[in-house]
Amino acid sequence: MTRVLTYGTFDTFHWAHMLLLQRARAMGDWLGVGLSTDEFNAIKGKTSVFNYAERENILRGIKYVDLIFPERTWEQKREDIVKYGADIFVIGDDWRGKFDDLSDLCRVVYLPRSPNISSTLIKQFIKTK
Ligand code: CTP
Repeated sequence: MTRVLTYGTFDTFHWAHMLLLQRARAMGDWLGVGLSTDEFNAIKGKTSVFNYAERENILRGIKYVDLIFPERTWEQKREDIVKYGADIFVIGDDWRGKFDDLSDLCRVVYLPRSPNISSTLIKQFIKTK
């Protein structure tokens, strides 16, 4: 059983989020998603359109996602990897190099980010309508 972990805000859920989750799940047999809490987003300087409960509810409907848990801090990843027995940590390559320190615990993989789509772009698009 290969266990995969990923993290993110997944606000205004879009096709590139789906592709990332699909690819992440295809790397193993189980995918856990650390979903950024509203408080953690505030720390990151992000405000989401949808709150944690709404974003979680969307992710619950995605067949590639086996478990959703709150991401509250930058530091929790090491604990999560051990707790969930993760073999692979995967995230988009906008984070390339940022999580290499986890490679003593599991494989760290950066997947290519899809072009021309992001929560930020969707929010800007809605604002200009
Ligand atoms: N992601 C991706 N391709 C995109 C957008 C996101 O592969 N075009 C990936 C990110 O690399 C990350 C996951 O989706 O692994 C969740 O990213 P998140 O930051 O929640 O979404 P973004 O759309 O990038 O949001 P923002 O504009 O707020 O950064």
